[in-house]
Amino acid sequence: MKKIITFGTFDVLHVGHIRILQRARALGGHLTVGVSSDALNFSKKQRYPIYSENDRMEIIKSIQGVDEVFREDSLELKGEYIKKYNADVLVMGDDWVGRFDEFKSLCDVLYLPRTEGISTTQLIVNIKAYV
Ligand code: CTP
Repeated sequence: MKKIITFGTFDVLHVGHIRILQRARALGGHLTVGVSSDALNFSKKQRYPIYSENDRMEIIKSIQGVDEVFREDSLELKGEYIKKYNADVLVMGDDWVGRFDEFKSLCDVLYLPRTEGISTTQLIVNIKAYV
């Protein structure tokens, strides 16, 4: 049984998130998801996610096919997380193509196509314009 690992913020859940999780799970028999911490998001984007890290982890854990969830505290620790969770395959969206090839010495690295036309950032813009 192959173990899959993937990472993301998964703020304001949408169908693109569901699809990548389901496609990742279909590649193996066990899916671990690293949900990036609030602090990590703030350091990258200078804003906090809409949903707290605890809520984002609870939501992702409740999705069918997600077996294990943990908080990703640092981008620098991907290799450690891959080892800790015994992942055979690292799955990332193709917005990251090539960026994680360094982990090919630890596991397979696969980039799956993103769902077109939707993103959390765009949803937030749409909601702001709507209210
Ligand atoms: N993802 C996807 N299709 C989308 C949006 C996201 O497949 N339309 C995937 C990403 O490639 C990533 C995971 O979902 O593997 C989590 O992405 P995340 O960055 O949390 O979601 P985005 O909607 O891209 O958020 P943002 O707009 O804030 O970058």
